[in-house]
Parts: sequence; C-alpha cells; structure tokens
Amino acid sequence: MKKSVSSFAQSVVDWQLSHGRQHLPWQHTKDPYRIWLSEIMLQQTQVATVLGYYERFLARFPTVSALGVAEQSEVMPYWAGLGYYARARNLHKCAQTIHYEYGGQFPRSSKELATLSGIGPSTAAAIAAFAYGERSPIMDGNVKRVFCRYFGVYGLTHLRATENKLWDLARQVIAAAPADLNMTAYTQGQMDLGSQVCTRGQPNCSACPLQAGCYALEHQTQTELPTPKPKTKQAERHCDMLIWQQGNQILVEQRPDSGIWGGLLTLPQFEDESQLQQFILNQGLSLNETHKMAGLTHVFSHFKLHITPWWIQTSTPLREPSVQQQWIDLTQLDQTALPAPVLKLLTGIKNQQPILF
Ligand code: ADE
Ligand code: SF4
Repeated sequence: MKKSVSSFAQSVVDWQLSHGRQHLPWQHTKDPYRIWLSEIMLQQTQVATVLGYYERFLARFPTVSALGVAEQSEVMPYWAGLGYYARARNLHKCAQTIHYEYGGQFPRSSKELATLSGIGPSTAAAIAAFAYGERSPIMDGNVKRVFCRYFGVYGLTHLRATENKLWDLARQVIAAAPADLNMTAYTQGQMDLGSQVCTRGQPNCSACPLQAGCYALEHQTQTELPTPKPKTKQAERHCDMLIWQQGNQILVEQRPDSGIWGGLLTLPQFEDESQLQQFILNQGLSLNETHKMAGLTHVFSHFKLHITPWWIQTSTPLREPSVQQQWIDLTQLDQTALPAPVLKLLTGIKNQQPILF
C-alpha cells in the first residue's frame, strides 16, 4: 500500500476537527432528514445561499412526513431562489416515498438511499456517513479536485474512465484507514478541504494537511489538475418581461414543470419587444403607459439570460385569462414561488423604486 493512500483519511480527519467548519446548521446531528435536506440544497448551491433557506424550510417542514404529505405547490415557495427546480420536485417525491412506503423512516444504508429520487451515489454516501457512520466514499466536484491533485489523476473528471479511477481510489483510502475512522469528520473534511484549501485557481498548499503525499504539490502541477475542460463560449439569450400592476396585485404565470424555472410563477415573458407590444395591444392596454425598466442579467449554468422588464399600472381586467395566469399580492412575495430575478424586480416595485428609463 502506497503511503499516500494509507495516511490520507486520518490526516483529513485530524485537520477537520481542528481547522474545518464546525458551525454549519446541518452538522452535529444524526437526523437523516436534516442531513438529507442540506445535502440536496448543497448539491448545486453555495453554502452561503443555503444558509438563508435551510432553517426556514425546516421550520415549515420539520419532518420528512410533514414534507411528504404537503402539496408540491406548498413546497415551491420555500425553494424559490435556490435554482435547479427539478431538485425540489425530486426532493418532494423522495419525501413522499419515505412517508408512504418507508413508514416515515429513512433507509439505513447508502445503497438503499441511492434508489430514491434525487439521491445519487455521492449524496447517498454522505448521508449514510453523517447519519450512520457508514464507511462509504463521497465524490462530488470538490472532492474530485482534491483527489485529482493528490493522486495525480489526469483526464476530464466527468468522463466515466476518470470517475471510475477516482471512486476506486476513494474506496482504497477508506479500506486502508483505521477501523475507528471518524466518518463524519472524514466526509465533512473532504468537503471543507475542497472548498477552503484545495480550491480552484490557486490552492493554499501551505495550509493543507495532505502536503506530505500530494502529487500536484510535488510536481507543481496544481493548475493542470484536475484536467481543465476546454472552454466553450457561454450562450446568451434575451427576453422581455411584463410587470402588470393593478393596485397591489401583479400578474404572474405558472411555468410548466420542465425547463428553466419549472413549477415556479414568473412574469409574462416574451421573446422580443414586438411580442410584448402585441400582448399589450391585445389586452387593450396603451403602449404609452408602458415603461421600460433597467435590464438585468441572470446567470444559469448553461447560459446567461438578459431580461428587459416593462412596467404598466392599470385597472383594466385581464382579457381571456388562462389557467396558468393569476394575480399575486406584492405584500406576499416571500410566500410566492418566484425565480430570484423576478423577486428582485417585484421587490423594487413593492418598495416603489422601480428603475425606469
Ligand atoms: N456541500 C455538500 N455537503 C456539504 C456539507 N455537509 N457542508 C458543506 N458543504 C457541503
Ligand atoms: Fe490540494 Fe495543495 Fe493540498 Fe495538494 S497540497 S491536496 S494541491 S491543497
């Protein structure tokens, strides 16, 4: 057994206990529900953002059964703004399964956890390690980076062959670790190292507990590992949105379940200005009273969306409303499942400070 494999896990544990994060609200619990919720929220969202959602979600849905019996429409407002809304639908589906088919008890192994909606192998292992002390490896984006550098693994990390190598190393590390390895600290420690020390860009190797065996440090190849993805230019799109205000009420539309902002309520959205104008004229509204507002850009994982918002205040009723359309109250924005940029726009309107051109 190479020295680099045998000392890895205990070094991470010792470092986590003395230098890792200790005060995240999902630590120091063995409750699989609290742990699962945090891991799902953290799958594609930064810790700082999740902190603003986690306790509020738990206050409304304190147990997996409370979540399982709720309607999806009750859940979405507590997720709105976190992005990647398929996660929220899978989360709800998973809670329903656990409530209705597992008697409200989470399965007790990573293998069974991984059969549930929205729980992949790494998330399953993290939950099982934190909740039950199971000796299973995780392999998320941060951990891949640490392993690639430490073990000198080249190759694009999303390719099957590279992934297999990394999982194999991760299993070897655990197999070589002491029988009493603290799996909570080991699992958290890999995440903490990846986000705080062995970061993208310039890692802080002089603060790293893995210096002694690290391939990238020895060969000064930190920036070559993990193998960088070839850069593709990010796609950009544009749309126009209409803020139609009647007193305190704003017209919104329910988005289909699939696609961006699936299941959320959004402002009426148009491909270009002429489509928006057509809608306004069809509704018997006046273009003269429609004000263009300052634009904003929202960054998705695969593209940027440039939004041009328009604002009109009328007392005209909606002609031929569709089932997707409804009026929401500006005083209830925080109970409404709105995407982050729409919430920002409407908060500006609510505070009577829309930025007009
Ligand atoms: N990302 C995924 N899981 C995490 C955790 N438990 N703590 C911090 N960041 C994480
Ligand atoms: Fe990452 Fe540097 Fe630590 Fe190696 S020594 S694991 S490159 S931080």
